[in-house]
Amino acid sequence: EAGATAADGGDRPVAYLRSVALVIALVAVAAVPPAAGAIGVRHLDLGGDYDFDGTGAALLVAGLLALLAGLVAFRRLDDRHGVPLVADLRAALQGRVYTPPEREPEQEPPARRERGVFIAFEGGEGAGKTTQARLAAIWLRDHGYDVVTTHEPGATKTGMRLRAMLLDKETTGLSSRAETLLYAADRADHVANVIVPAMERGAIVVSDRYVDSSLAYQGYGREQRVEDIAEVNAWATGGLVPDLTVLLEVPPQTGLGRLPAPADRIESEPREFHERVHAGFRALAEADPDRYLVLDASRPQGELSREIQYRIREILPDPIPAGTEDATSTFPVITDY
Ligand code: TYD
Repeated sequence: EAGATAADGGDRPVAYLRSVALVIALVAVAAVPPAAGAIGVRHLDLGGDYDFDGTGAALLVAGLLALLAGLVAFRRLDDRHGVPLVADLRAALQGRVYTPPEREPEQEPPARRERGVFIAFEGGEGAGKTTQARLAAIWLRDHGYDVVTTHEPGATKTGMRLRAMLLDKETTGLSSRAETLLYAADRADHVANVIVPAMERGAIVVSDRYVDSSLAYQGYGREQRVEDIAEVNAWATGGLVPDLTVLLEVPPQTGLGRLPAPADRIESEPREFHERVHAGFRALAEADPDRYLVLDASRPQGELSREIQYRIREILPDPIPAGTEDATSTFPVITDY
């Protein structure tokens, strides 16, 4: 047929089949007459009298070899792997394409709850998120939860070095992209070495700042494409998104006024920068209201804590996390059958 070359990937099986047929034909032509001669006429006594000559015996052997070659070729060329041959042929004779009956989906193993809960606190400068994160953690621990409090940037050893670079006012001329990547690097290390291990243990992770800080500061603040920042960070974190983000809102002027001097590299950015960050946080929360609790940070601290507790309560798991149950399996287990 036109264009059927052995080098062409799609025609390789055809070429294979051809060469097998050719070899069999050659073997048959060359080997059958001498084999037939060597066997000669034989007499078999199988109950009745039975005579057979060398040609018949040689053809029988050739037939068996051809069958073997056919089976090998079928196994190599079967393009409907896993479909039973007889059923497929029967369907083909009736002009249908055989489709195997749907198998019952394999029973999923019972979902193991390995995930803890991840809560992030976000906000501009001096919003009091550090205090509120700490209060939430204390409250959760009082209720018997395994809580890991952490922060960005600088929660790991490498992160502390990155934090020093990022916040040192001596770091001058750092490009916005480099800044974005350094925050993302800190975050990647934070996720891999602190957050994920804690979550796998079933702990509740409370982080002071997370991805939204980069979206607000490096995206809105530095006026870079927020989608780009989101993409870099999704990659850095393996797509880990908090179950809840508490956003503490304070007008930039008020927040910056609350800070003790001297300010770090980011805090010393001009007022417009902080205005953009503030607007950015608000836009992020409005775009995904289910994940955010937005609070006016100028309200009394006790009131804020109570609201945060209400909201956290909604997302809390069973007080006995799966990890704890696993641990009990090291003790003799009493099972009712
Ligand atoms: P932080 O340690 O939370 O300081 P503060 O409690 O005074 O707000 O954050 C340090 C600075 O880093 C802060 O000015 C915000 C900035 N930052 C970013 O610009 N991008 C980020 O992704 C993060 C996590 C922080």
